Amino acid sequence: MSTNIESRQRDLDAMLALAPVVAVVVIERVEHAVPLARALVAGGIRAIEVTLRTPVAPKAIRAIADEVDGACVGAGTVLRPADFETAVRAGARFNVSPGSTDTLLAAADGIDVPWLPGAATASEALALFERGYRLQKFFPAAAVGGVEHLRSLAGPLPGIRFCPTGGIDAANAARYLALPNVVCVGGSWLTPRDLVAAQDWPAIESLARAAAQLRE
Ligand code: 3PG
Repeated sequence: MSTNIESRQRDLDAMLALAPVVAVVVIERVEHAVPLARALVAGGIRAIEVTLRTPVAPKAIRAIADEVDGACVGAGTVLRPADFETAVRAGARFNVSPGSTDTLLAAADGIDVPWLPGAATASEALALFERGYRLQKFFPAAAVGGVEHLRSLAGPLPGIRFCPTGGIDAANAARYLALPNVVCVGGSWLTPRDLVAAQDWPAIESLARAAAQLRE
């Protein structure tokens, strides 16, 4: 394990500790990026994962990085090595993938920004741990067994901490957060498509505020 990855994992520790929830957002219109991120930060949610699923995602990351005080913006849906470059050039401070591959692992070694790779099984988690990734996205959390699955991993894999994502919402987030091997949760419920389309930033701020208080 290189010193590099240890220091990037420590950076990631700090980012994932900013709030109990990482907001996973899909931005269709670049002009939504700054007000959406400001609403999340005002509500207490500072880690914002902009998924690379829309053409404007890199511009949205750049706008948030440049204009939103207090935001820690990252890129999600990183599927190819080129996505790391796109994300970092745009200003992403962390990258997230739904899984991991040898190609992505090799590329991540050369990227000076923390990466949160995904795992859904004990074998996948262990393979990442061997490479120095003690922080992992657990995906798709609800679909592969949810709270019970994660609880079962805590005993045999005590060194790994997860950010479960996929199917998490205001109703079930607290049960994930109560697990000893959960560092935070990720989810899109703070930025529902209809509220973003309506540019209802106060409603998004309220959802963020409730999420930020999940651990209080
Ligand atoms: C994603 O990358 O889309 C996340 O897993 C979000 O999942 P959610 O929409 O179920 O919160």
